[in-house]
Amino acid sequence: MSENKVVFNKPNDTDDDSDDDTVCLGESFFMNDNYELTTFTFGSHVLELLCLQSASTDFDLTGQLVWPGARLLNEYISNNVEILQGCSAVELGSGIGITGILCGRFCREVVLTDHNDEVLKILKKNIALHESSDNPKSCAALSAEKLEWGNSDHLNQILEKHPEGFDLVLGADICFQQNSVPPLFDSVKELLSRRGKERCKFILAYVSRSKMMDVMVTKEAIQHGLQIHEVDGTRSVIANLEGVIYEITLQ
Ligand SMILES: C[S@@+](CC[C@H](N)C(=O)[O-])C[C@H]1O[C@@H](n2cnc3c(N)ncnc32)[C@H](O)[C@@H]1O
Repeated sequence: MSENKVVFNKPNDTDDDSDDDTVCLGESFFMNDNYELTTFTFGSHVLELLCLQSASTDFDLTGQLVWPGARLLNEYISNNVEILQGCSAVELGSGIGITGILCGRFCREVVLTDHNDEVLKILKKNIALHESSDNPKSCAALSAEKLEWGNSDHLNQILEKHPEGFDLVLGADICFQQNSVPPLFDSVKELLSRRGKERCKFILAYVSRSKMMDVMVTKEAIQHGLQIHEVDGTRSVIANLEGVIYEITLQ
């Protein structure tokens, strides 16, 4: 009985030519970048953005599509635009950019960030698409930057360009992997500390998928010296999951 072998990224110079049953799979095998132009409506605001309709095989490519947390945060923003008016904002884990780009309609400046290079490509495309679409409502300067949570070099590079820090830190559906929550709050704390308690807050759209994560988010915020409170009236069901908007500030 013959046995098929699967090899990822088989090197070109392999001398293992005898192995005819080896199937070689490059990285592109796991990558779907057939993005579709999709229309999203939040209140009176319509956005047309490129995204996937379902996830790629690679777990790290979560940012290629729009998550329920982004829908929750964008609804909240479109109903409370005064929170953003004239502000500078940085978004963490922007994915395709649906939240940061909507914020660009009200803020004066938005920096959209992600750690995944493939996601950054589509994020930059969507920013360019939005800027080229003849849209008089888009007034903010939008930019995309690489930011891995907890990576001080990445964060310092952003803060060098924005030494005054930001009025708002935003995050939609970014608490879903336990090991990334502590570094996420490290970066949040650094960003909030740049401005101080009254002058910067983190608005997090949290979608509950496990009790353990529900507890962890609150615990990590407190352990980082932050206070976290649920915004009244925001707890709702979205895509069959419970979501809520948290406001997080320095204590
Ligand atoms: C579940 S997706 C949410 C995307 C978008 N905010 C939304 O709601 O549609 C999580 C995003 O966070 C990014 N991400 C995950 N872990 C990260 C990390 N350690 N540092 C920075 N970004 C991360 C992913 O690349 C992805 O874009």
